[in-house]
Amino acid sequence: MKICIALTKGRLEEQFLQYLNSLCFDVEPLINKGRKLWVETGNLQFFFAKGVDVGTYVEHGIADLGIIGEDILLEYQPDVFDLFPLPFGKCRFALAEVANKKETMSKRKIATKYPNITNEYFRSTGESVDIVKLEGSVELAPVLGLSDAIVDIVETGTTLAENGLIIKEEFHPLSARCIANRSSLKIKKASISPFLDALQGQGVLN
Ligand code: PRP
Repeated sequence: MKICIALTKGRLEEQFLQYLNSLCFDVEPLINKGRKLWVETGNLQFFFAKGVDVGTYVEHGIADLGIIGEDILLEYQPDVFDLFPLPFGKCRFALAEVANKKETMSKRKIATKYPNITNEYFRSTGESVDIVKLEGSVELAPVLGLSDAIVDIVETGTTLAENGLIIKEEFHPLSARCIANRSSLKIKKASISPFLDALQGQGVLN
């Protein structure tokens, strides 16, 4: 039976392919796909989408499985089975601001791609803030004066450092996760299981 797997494009895609390669899976068709957004190899059909859309495709059963960042799962909470962590895509959430920023008594503005996570974080600290939702390059916001600080994911810390920002707090270690559609897991269990076992280092892919 064919299994459809939604992969997050970009940084996670590269790390996932390296991981598959380390499991001796032939990743050549996935690497040399050109601008094509889907690739079939054996009984596996892979397609490439933005992280939040991976959750949507899996929730709606278009994809049986998905490889997604835990940040996206926490922020958007798609109705899927969150199966297990994968050993890549390691990062964490951080609250960061411009170095040497003066303390302010007024309500702080926080720019982020993660309004729900940010809300939850500041509810836990008890500070009341205004959240400004951005879609990317969040590090620009405090530098240009749109916000006092940001909440974003940090992996190497290079983007923060190169834009003159420093971490004030770090919270929630994150990694890539394997997710599954709720019915696929039951209906296609026999076909899906070997792939899931292999992803967890408990079998051979191919
Ligand atoms: C993510 C994140 C940071 C950067 C952190 O952005 O939002 O900007 O990576 O990585 P680093 O700590 O290794 O520098 P992404 O590359 O996904 O792009 P985006 O800002 O356009 O969302």
